[in-house]
Amino acid sequence: MRSNGVVIAIDGHSSCGKSTVARAIADRLGIRYIDSGAMYRAVTVYFMQNNIPLPAVDGKDNPDYRPVLEKINIEFHDNLKTGLAEVYLNGQNVNEEIRSMEVSQAVSRVSSIKEIREKMVWMQQHLDRHKGIVMDGRDIGTTVFPDADLKIFMTADINIRAQRRFDELQRKGIKATMEEVVENLRMRDHDDTNREASPLRMADGAVVLDNTHLNREQQLDFIVKSLQHKGLSD
Ligand code: DC
Repeated sequence: MRSNGVVIAIDGHSSCGKSTVARAIADRLGIRYIDSGAMYRAVTVYFMQNNIPLPAVDGKDNPDYRPVLEKINIEFHDNLKTGLAEVYLNGQNVNEEIRSMEVSQAVSRVSSIKEIREKMVWMQQHLDRHKGIVMDGRDIGTTVFPDADLKIFMTADINIRAQRRFDELQRKGIKATMEEVVENLRMRDHDDTNREASPLRMADGAVVLDNTHLNREQQLDFIVKSLQHKGLSD
């Protein structure tokens, strides 16, 4: 499964800055960055646009989601201005839409559907990674790339995470109260850790990066040192 490029898997709790760090490390190493959460969020947008019922919380009597999956195509295209990969759902750029509170509230239910996870994992494993790739999510080191060169498990205090997420929503002009943000994080932590299909777990061989008290540079430093330790970077 491994190609010539370095493969870095970053997993961890919601809103602990995985994507910021993953993007920065991809930039520094000149490798591709893929936000796997954006794929589950794009599927959620499809569910919302097409009024598809969410699975029951107890996972019982769920509809057969396979016909829905056949209608969903997800791609990443580079934004030529920002140089960042943006997510497209059936040809439509949904990069902004996937960050709404409505999507955040429904996405863990959607991402608990086994058939959806299987399709996303397959797509993630078949993305071009000959130049190297860093992917962040919840099951990257355990399921998508169990043979990744470096696996990082990120976490941070929930109040710090909530504050960061709240600030981000404010910057984007998305309305939400701090209580809603904390509640949403608790719910997603719970759902991500307790679902049957690929629950959030620390992968074998992963190193823990708790960034409660670390700034961006210190986090990057940690990852570069971990790569050097493995002989993967100068
Ligand atoms: O990283 P994020 O918050 O954008 O992810 C959105 C949701 O998708 C989150 O609730 C967990 C789920 N997810 C997942 O189950 N597996 C992944 N590899 C990535 C995200």
